Amino acid sequence: MGLNVDLSYAFLPGQEARFSAYLDKAALARRLLMEGQGPGPDCRGWLSLPFTIPETDIARLEEAGRKIRSDSEVLVVIGIGGSYLGARAALSFLGASHPEFHRPGAPLVLFAGLSLCSDDLAELIDFIKDRSFSLAVVSKSGSTTEPAIAFRILKGVLEEKYGLREAARRVYVITDSKKGILKAIADYEGYDVYAIPDDIGGRYSVLTPVGLLPMAAAGVDIRAMLRGAKDALLSGKTLPPAENPSLRYAAYRQLMAGEGKRIEIFATFSPSHRHLGEWWKQLFGESEGKEHGGLFPAPVVFTTELHSIGQYIQEGSRTMFETFLLAASPRRQLSIPVEAANLDGLNFLAGKPLSFVNRQAFRATAAAHFDGGTPNLSIVFDRIDEYHFGYLVGFFEFSCAVSGFIQGVNPFDQPGVEAYKNNLFALIGKPGYEKRSRELFERLGREER
Ligand code: PA5
Repeated sequence: MGLNVDLSYAFLPGQEARFSAYLDKAALARRLLMEGQGPGPDCRGWLSLPFTIPETDIARLEEAGRKIRSDSEVLVVIGIGGSYLGARAALSFLGASHPEFHRPGAPLVLFAGLSLCSDDLAELIDFIKDRSFSLAVVSKSGSTTEPAIAFRILKGVLEEKYGLREAARRVYVITDSKKGILKAIADYEGYDVYAIPDDIGGRYSVLTPVGLLPMAAAGVDIRAMLRGAKDALLSGKTLPPAENPSLRYAAYRQLMAGEGKRIEIFATFSPSHRHLGEWWKQLFGESEGKEHGGLFPAPVVFTTELHSIGQYIQEGSRTMFETFLLAASPRRQLSIPVEAANLDGLNFLAGKPLSFVNRQAFRATAAAHFDGGTPNLSIVFDRIDEYHFGYLVGFFEFSCAVSGFIQGVNPFDQPGVEAYKNNLFALIGKPGYEKRSRELFERLGREER
């Protein structure tokens, strides 16, 4: 159970000799992380969460999940960034090729508040208004603009449909335990509130109620997921560097950065893993894109995008390396049928599983890209299930923290996100931003509508 990191195509000539020095750096970074040294000492709750989460918290989430399943055809999760990506990744990962996870008897989980696009939200409202639905609003700060506006609008739709009293029973709030506007709204309205631990930041929060409540509502086995994360973190914390998948991955990334690579392509071979790639992009991009450094995280889905970006990877500027993520077997098998006329000439594949062809496509790609000067590493996990989703979360989180420490940045903060937010507040006239408003109106002009 778990995963392997395969380095068969990882090194261009001369690079392998330098890898062991990066493994040493990874071991040192791990020590700092575990001993509470280095940047962000108060942001490491995710390291212990799967070991310490109280049984009562899990049972309460499962109970909320049962209630949502019993009274809602749709659960709308309102959140952005770390407040929705993990849940979306998990639901899609477990639902094969469907963009949204949907089991009979479980609500359809939809996402809102992750953009400011009125077309999207209006269409979502059209879809839910004649169905039974509940809202899960997720925001650690409680004041992020996109989910706050979406919540105000959707709360109105909910209250109009159900009346104030029943609407209040259909809102689940996931936010800071003590502070923030959302917490104040929840207390005022009497909503069911779930706390995000103080020491766990947005992109490390998938295994808190942020991810677990939507998953429980969708009928996911959240206990198996926590077991997977626990095993991955234990392996990250204890295995010697040369046998430690998280340390090997972190060391390899930083070796590649040291060798002049600027882009990490994260390639999966299943469309249902696309959202995991989006979660991975935020985890590494927000953790390491600092001080004008860090690898640019670029998730892709193959073989689909071999037909769009494959040319660039094979022959474009040599600034990238690749990380492949592969399941040892798919969730569902399909075999290629025999056809008497064989008009398409595919009978040489008759009887073979489609997954065989997908696997050979991976092998073909890894070899071709390596030959073209794009080295690559493969992460292979055993099965597509809850346990392995949790395992991947623990593995990537541990790798990311170690990699950020080797790079010399704080992998737990995101100061750069504020620049756009402050400009937006100024442009839409938020009280308190008057000085910035004047500066921007002078540069950009003023728009009223
Ligand atoms: O990783 C992060 O911290 C961010 O992506 C946040 O999750 C995102 O900005 C949403 O923030 P909040 O949960 O406070 O609404």
